[in-house]
Amino acid sequence: MIRPLLAQIKEYKKPSLLASLFMFFEVIFEIALPFLMSYIIDYGVNKQDMGNITKYGLLMVVLALLSLACGMQSARYGALGSAGFAKNLRRALYNKVQTFSFENIDHFSAGGLVTRMMTDVTNVQNAYQMIIRVCVRAPLNLIFAISVSFFINAKMAMIFVYVALFLALILAVVLKFAFPLFRKVFNAYDELNSSVQENITNMRVVKSYVKEEEETKKFQGASRKIYGMFVKAIRIVIINNPAMMLSMYSSFIMISWIGAHLIVAKEFTTGELTSMFSYTITILISLMMFTMIFVMLTISMASVERISEVLTTQATIVSPLNGLTEVKDGSITFEHVDFGYETSEEKLVLNDVNLSIKSGEVIGILGGTGSGKSSLVQLLARMYDVDAGSVKVGGRDVRDYDLDALRRKVAMVLQTNVLFSGTIKENMRWGNKQATDEEIVAACKIAQADEFISQFKDGYDTMIERGGANVSGGQRQRLCIARALLTNPKILILDDSTSAVDTKTDQLIRQGLAASLQGTTKIIISQRISSVEDADRIIVLDDGKINGLGSHEELLQTNKIYQEVYETQTKGSDQDD
Ligand SMILES: Nc1ncnc2c1ncn2[C@@H]1O[C@H](COP(=O)(O)OP(=O)(O)OP(=O)(O)O)[C@@H](O)[C@H]1O
Ligand SMILES: [Mg+2]
Repeated sequence: MIRPLLAQIKEYKKPSLLASLFMFFEVIFEIALPFLMSYIIDYGVNKQDMGNITKYGLLMVVLALLSLACGMQSARYGALGSAGFAKNLRRALYNKVQTFSFENIDHFSAGGLVTRMMTDVTNVQNAYQMIIRVCVRAPLNLIFAISVSFFINAKMAMIFVYVALFLALILAVVLKFAFPLFRKVFNAYDELNSSVQENITNMRVVKSYVKEEEETKKFQGASRKIYGMFVKAIRIVIINNPAMMLSMYSSFIMISWIGAHLIVAKEFTTGELTSMFSYTITILISLMMFTMIFVMLTISMASVERISEVLTTQATIVSPLNGLTEVKDGSITFEHVDFGYETSEEKLVLNDVNLSIKSGEVIGILGGTGSGKSSLVQLLARMYDVDAGSVKVGGRDVRDYDLDALRRKVAMVLQTNVLFSGTIKENMRWGNKQATDEEIVAACKIAQADEFISQFKDGYDTMIERGGANVSGGQRQRLCIARALLTNPKILILDDSTSAVDTKTDQLIRQGLAASLQGTTKIIISQRISSVEDADRIIVLDDGKINGLGSHEELLQTNKIYQEVYETQTKGSDQDD
């Protein structure tokens, strides 16, 4: 599980190793200090020898400075290594997500992917820094401090061994109970995260339904839950503190007691006694670090799992080897196509669909909500793969094409389309980098966008905010149509793309489309008969099946659903338009 993450350390292996190495030296120099202190006391103070005091004193200063320098280098390389690792990890996640199919994205949800790229990577970054620094420090401190103590006086050092064992036992018990609680806390964080994300992104909806109070209550409930669990977990962890204090002071007492006896027996010096006290503190601090490490690592394990899940997911739709790069024409064939979404297994969304569309035809698709219109057209650009049968574009199965080549030639204005932050011109060039200013204006004219763009102060250089929040729904739809037109596609799909546009403009757009992009197959999905009536043929979709297929006149004669829709829409048209 951890391997896909480790593979991303890459060029930051060196700084990571240096961080550990410098930490190693920092600890060695640090550990030597109390040892020298004992020399100052024994050979300097007690013997009243100023020379020794200066000698050892200076040596201490030098070692302290060395330790400081190493500590700084270790911190620097630690930050470098962990931040670099996080950068690589984010990039790997980002690149992976770019390969994902709609199905993969449905599975993780967009919000879930963002949390993984942000919060989870940060958790892993912190844990990594901890591993390359503190994880080196704590055991080294412990081992060195105990070894030096043994060197000074083996009998006394045994005290540390017992104390360490006692504390390790307490730690184990604490962690055993606190671990599961911490895990729960982090799952609850996930819940809170998604609640916050949903609410903030949909703030406008929340406000318009006056749901702030209710949502705030929900949020407070979730955050109180986390608070409660955290307090419970911390309550267990803080048992550590009295245990630590108990160990420290009992060590002091035992050392003083045994030390006094040994000093009297001339087996021990006062200097050695003071250094023992220092080592007691060092040892206890390193044990405390162990607790911290364990808590941090548990926290990050959940994040590791979540990142690894994304990194190891295989994109469900990939280009075939040596895929076709040319789409011959805009002809379309559906042969016995069955299709369903992974998440709604029980039911097929499209059921045995057969269809043949000639290149250059204008096709309307009409059908109730949920009848499968969007699903049908998404198969053309291979956003999803069929479960059975085949979809052919330009005479070849869509699975034979290189994905990019296919999608470049099948332009789709999605039902929920967005613009990106940048100027209108930049947004237009999304579809076609080489588009000239004249081409952009021409496309916007067809899409009936030129008129309102010209009224903006900055015209085509007007900044679009993220998602297109500063243009109206209808304006956004028109800009999206223009953007699709610029790709000069073989097949152009407009999925309910004029739903927010008034009927007059809708008609103008259709007239513009008819006059341009000759030879391009155009598929227009709509709930409005007026939007599809001049199409060469209209598909009536009902519950994932083709219910009728023919021109407006033919369908009016033969198709019951079409007749009903026509009647309700023409009757209501007085108020509608
Ligand atoms: N990403 C998805 N994951 C799971 N189920 C989906 C997904 N998208 C659509 N569906 C389901 O598939 C069915 C057909 O949906 P589709 O979007 O094709 O309908 P539609 O005809 O375009 O409807 P509308 O007119 O409302 O746009 C619906 O029952 C819907 O719940
Ligand atoms: Mg739809």
